[in-house]
Amino acid sequence: MKKIKLMLIEDEEFDKIRVEKTLQTIPNKFEISHFVSDGRTAIEKLKNNPNSVDVVIMDFQIAGGIMGEALIKRIKEVNSLIQIIVISKMTMNITDFDFANSLISAGAFWYCTKYPADIREYIYQPTDFILSIFNAYEKKLLEEEKVNSNIKLQIGVDRVLEKSRIIGSSSKINELKEEIEKYAVSKASVLITGPSGSGKELVATALHYKSERKFENFITVNCSSIPFELIESELFGYEKGAFTGADKNKKGLFEQADKGTIFLDEVGELPLAAQAKLLRVLEAGEIEKIGRTGKSIVDVRVIAATNKDLKQGVDDKKFRADLYYRLNIIPISVPNLKDRTEDIQELFDFFLEKYSKSHGINKPKVLKDVYGVLNNHKWEGNIRELNSVAQRIVLSRVDVVDIITIYKALGTFEIEANQISKDFKNVFDSKNILSLKEFKKVIYTEYIKFVKNNSESDAETAKKLGIAQSNFHRLCVELGLK
Ligand SMILES: Nc1ncnc2c1ncn2[C@@H]1O[C@H](COP(=O)(O)OP(=O)(O)OP(=O)(O)O)[C@@H](O)[C@H]1O
Ligand SMILES: [Mg+2]
Repeated sequence: MKKIKLMLIEDEEFDKIRVEKTLQTIPNKFEISHFVSDGRTAIEKLKNNPNSVDVVIMDFQIAGGIMGEALIKRIKEVNSLIQIIVISKMTMNITDFDFANSLISAGAFWYCTKYPADIREYIYQPTDFILSIFNAYEKKLLEEEKVNSNIKLQIGVDRVLEKSRIIGSSSKINELKEEIEKYAVSKASVLITGPSGSGKELVATALHYKSERKFENFITVNCSSIPFELIESELFGYEKGAFTGADKNKKGLFEQADKGTIFLDEVGELPLAAQAKLLRVLEAGEIEKIGRTGKSIVDVRVIAATNKDLKQGVDDKKFRADLYYRLNIIPISVPNLKDRTEDIQELFDFFLEKYSKSHGINKPKVLKDVYGVLNNHKWEGNIRELNSVAQRIVLSRVDVVDIITIYKALGTFEIEANQISKDFKNVFDSKNILSLKEFKKVIYTEYIKFVKNNSESDAETAKKLGIAQSNFHRLCVELGLK
């Protein structure tokens, strides 16, 4: 076993020797790395080398500025893993629980009352004293392990959060991010509303992984995809023998989410019977398993989401009003993409980057007119639609995303192409025959506009048209394009 590293804070030589003698009753187990006689020096030494000490043994009342509870707290601030044993004269002959409590709540591990001064050999009953140091060290090791595994878990959490990062910097999305930060810490139920594909699941994920429950389970339940007759047994579980075919106990999703979060997606689809049971979980933390008379208690945070108007559901008697209010304690609404077009460019770029990386394909360059087309699109499928448009483009392996590429990826190419041919058809109007000069002007204008839209600069347009840039400029002026 490694020697336990001790710091002894004691200002009376007599007691210092008594502590040493007590420790020597079991040799080779301890190493006193620091002897100090005042609090300030102790803190300094610990700050310089916070890992040089496992357990501090400190006299309660010592000379110099910092002592007692204040010193305990300062040591814990420097390194919360260090365990502290207090030795004191103060409580001699009295059982002062309040005093003991105040030490423990300041962060001490244990305390003992020094033997009277006529016992020169020991500071305290040696076995008890030494055992308490062993226990303190054990506790330090356990806490260290916990910190280390929490670091590992935190790395996992950071990865999830990075993967489900919420992109966008419009004021609407910033408000949403602020709401997530604010409400993640709460245990209260959240109801996320918003159109399909707007990012509700992303919000639910962020709420869980930014909460104190982040190391516990995050269980997602899609209420519309579980067959109607299985919903209750899936959510709440059943006891063996509850019905034919129940040959063993089944844990419900609520039990799996115990201490963590359950995400009830499309909560509007829950049948009324399951709604009543859900209400009970929300109100009393109790789950009713099928086939069991007693109740089990769970501690689950509920986050629900819907793209339906649940209030309407309440009016139509499809959704329980009491459940609606119980779920809707913290309402979060996720905006339509169409209502925050400022984010489109950033999102589109983000998805292009993401899919180029994951498919190992070069990220294509986007011509600036493309964003105009994206901004004007309806985005009925919201971000999910934008996401697949970007993915489609990456997979088509184009080097440059121009207007035609984007129309094709949006599935509106035919419509746009029809629009172009309609413009040209107008030229063939029997009631308005154009002279050859006029005809040339219309055709040139439309075509130059089209090529311009698909180029980055005038120089590039001119090059594509096969004319010198000066001629291109002149032509534009002639046609009224400049
Ligand atoms: N702000 C955002 N930043 C990055 N990706 C996003 C953002 N919002 C949504 N997404 C992505 O868009 C897709 C759809 O999002 P999500 O599944 O969260 O939508 P939803 O609102 O739950 O949709 P539905 O109602 O159809 O279930 C996902 O791939 C998600 O990662
Ligand atoms: Mg969803």
